[in-house]
Amino acid sequence: MTTPEPPKAPWQDLLNGHLSQNSSSEFTLTTVAYDANKKRHVPRARVCGFRGFFPSPQLHPSAIDALKAQGDGLNPDVYESDMISFTTDVRMEKVGQIQPGSSESDAGNEVEMVFWLKDVGSQWRIKGVAFVIGDQDGGGVEDEAREGIQRGLRVRSEDGREKWTWERQVTTYFANHTPILRGSFKSPSPGHPKSQAPQDPSLKPGQEVEDLHDPTARKNFRVVVVRPQEVERLDLSDYKNPARWTWALTDDGKQPERWEEAELWP
Ligand SMILES: Cc1cc2nc3c(=O)[nH]c(=O)nc-3n(C[C@H](O)[C@H](O)[C@H](O)COP(=O)(O)O)c2cc1C
Repeated sequence: MTTPEPPKAPWQDLLNGHLSQNSSSEFTLTTVAYDANKKRHVPRARVCGFRGFFPSPQLHPSAIDALKAQGDGLNPDVYESDMISFTTDVRMEKVGQIQPGSSESDAGNEVEMVFWLKDVGSQWRIKGVAFVIGDQDGGGVEDEAREGIQRGLRVRSEDGREKWTWERQVTTYFANHTPILRGSFKSPSPGHPKSQAPQDPSLKPGQEVEDLHDPTARKNFRVVVVRPQEVERLDLSDYKNPARWTWALTDDGKQPERWEEAELWP
C-alpha cells in the first residue's frame, strides 16, 4: 500500500500572499537543545531568511543562468509542498540541534518558526519538524532527511519525474545565492573565536564563489526544510478587532491526514 499524498494546506496561499506583500520575509527559528550537562532541554532562537516553499525557491535570473552555464540545469517542475525552506551552514549550532546523533546537543527535530509580517499586520507561528539536506557524501542521516521531506511532497506533474534529483535541488538553492553569500560557506567556522586562525587555508572571509560545485563551500552548505504540523495566524491589522486562527494536521492513523481549522479568541 502506498502512503497517500499530504493534503494541500488551507493556510498556504494566505501565508504566501502575506510574504509577497510584506517588505521582509525573515522569521525567528527556535530549536531545542540540551544544556552543557546534557540534562535539561533548552530553547535556542535565531533569525533566518525564508527561501520559498520546497522545492520552489523564487529563482533569480542569474541563478538560472549559472545552472545552465555550468551544466547542472534545472529540475523538472514535478513537486510542490507546504514545507518551508531556508539555507544554512552545517557548522552552525542549529544543524547539530536538528540532526539526529550529529552532535552532543541534538534534542529532536521539532522546531517553531515565527514571522511578524508588520506590513500586513499578521504574526504566523509554525510548529513542525525540520530536516537538513545537502551532505554531498550522502549516508544514513541524509537519506532519513530526504525521506522525511519526501513525505511532505505532492506530485504536480509526472512529466520528467525520473530526472528530478535531490543533488540538483540543493545546487539550485546554492545557485540562488550571490557569489559573496556562496563565499560565506567557506569563511572561518561561524561561532569560533577570532583569535584562533583556521587551519584550513581555503577558509577565508569575504571570498566570492562562482563555481556551483566549489568543494569547500558545498561541503558546508545545507538546505533546511520544515514540515509544518500546526500553524497559527494572529491578525492584528485592525487592533480593535484582532483575530486568531489555527490549523492542525490530524493523523489518527486510519483516515488520510487532514488540516483542521479553528478560529480562537485572540
Ligand atoms: C536578517 C537575518 C537573516 C539571517 N538569515 C539566516 C539564514 O537564512 N540562515 C542561517 O543559517 N542564518 C541566518 N542568519 C544568522 C542567524 O541569525 C544566526 O546568527 C546564525 O545562523 C547562527 O545561529 P546558530 O549558531 O544558532 O545556528 C540571519 C541573520 C539575520 C539577522
